[in-house]
Amino acid sequence: MAIERVLVVGGGLMGSGIAQVLAQAGLTVTIVDTDRAALERSLLRIDRGLKYATATSVTIRDRISISVDLESAAIGADHVIESVVEDIRVKTELLRRLDDVCRSDVIFASNTSQYSISLLGASTRRPDRVIGSHWFNPPPLMGLIEIVRGVETSDETLRTTVALALRYGKQAIVCKKDTQGFITSRLIALFIVEAARIVEEGIASVDDVNRACVLAFNHALGPLDTADLSGLDTVVRVADALVEQYGERFRPPSMLRSLVHAGHLGRKSGRGFSSYDLAILR
Ligand SMILES: NC(=O)c1ccc[n+]([C@@H]2O[C@H](COP(=O)([O-])OP(=O)(O)OC[C@H]3O[C@@H](n4cnc5c(N)ncnc54)[C@H](O)[C@@H]3O)[C@@H](O)[C@H]2O)c1
Repeated sequence: MAIERVLVVGGGLMGSGIAQVLAQAGLTVTIVDTDRAALERSLLRIDRGLKYATATSVTIRDRISISVDLESAAIGADHVIESVVEDIRVKTELLRRLDDVCRSDVIFASNTSQYSISLLGASTRRPDRVIGSHWFNPPPLMGLIEIVRGVETSDETLRTTVALALRYGKQAIVCKKDTQGFITSRLIALFIVEAARIVEEGIASVDDVNRACVLAFNHALGPLDTADLSGLDTVVRVADALVEQYGERFRPPSMLRSLVHAGHLGRKSGRGFSSYDLAILR
C-alpha cells in the first residue's frame, strides 16, 4: 500500500515540525491533538518555518490539516506517527485506540525519546507494525531519524520506515535492540544531567558550561541550551524513566526539577536555564 496520507498525533514542538517535513516531502498530513490551542500554535510554527522555504510554501501548507477527532482522522490514514507527551500511559492508550480504527496494514511509528518499542507494540494487535522513529528538534533542520526495532517489529516494517526517512530527506540510523533510551537519548540525557550538576554545584555558569561544549568539543549547541530547546519537562520525564532502567547516573539534579516545577520549561515558556524573548520566538 503506497503511503500518501499520514496522521501525526501530538501537535507540540515535535509533531508540528514533523508535519512540516512530511508536507514538504509531498505527503498529505493531518495533525491531531487533544488541545485545540496546541493545534493553532502548531500551525503558527509551521507558517513561520515555511517562510524560509520556497515560493511553494502555500502548496505545502495546504497539505496540512488539524483535528481534535482522533478516530475520524485515523480512518483514512496510510501511516501514523505518534508524537504525544512522553508518558507511557498516554502513549499506550493512544495506540490502543488507533489499533481499533486504523487499517491493519498501517505502521505506527513512535517518536518516543526512550520508551521500549516492544512495550508500545504490546498495547496493539500489530506489534510487528510498531516501530520507533525518533526525530530531532527542530525536525525541519535536523538531518537524522533514529529508527528503533521492537522485539516483534518485522523486517518489512523496518524497511518501510527506513525508506520513509529517506523520502523525508533525512538520514537513518537503526538501533538494532529494543533498549530504553536507544543511542541518542542515553547520550544526551547523561550530558544534560551532568551539565546541570556542574551548575548546581557552583562550579561554572550556565553560559560557560554551554560554551565549554561548543568550543572544546565542537558541539553545535551546549547541553543546557539543548535542554532549553527540547523542553525541560520532556528532559526530566526522559531522565526519570532512564533512572528506572539504568540507575542513578541519569537522576536529574533538584535544580532541574525545580525549574520545571516553577514552569520554566525552556524556550517554549521563555525561561529555562537561560531566558528567551517569546515575542521573537513565536
Ligand atoms: N522536545 C524534543 O526535543 C524531542 C525530541 C525528540 C523526541 N521527542 C519526543 O516527542 C514527543 C513529543 O514531544 P514534544 O517535545 O513535541 O512535546 P510537547 O509537550 O511540545 O507536545 C506534546 C503534545 O501532545 C499532546 N497530547 C497529549 N496527550 C495527547 C493525546 N492523548 N492525543 C493527542 N495529543 C496529545 C499535547 O496536547 C501536546 O500538544 C515525546 O514523546 C518526546 O519525548 C521530543
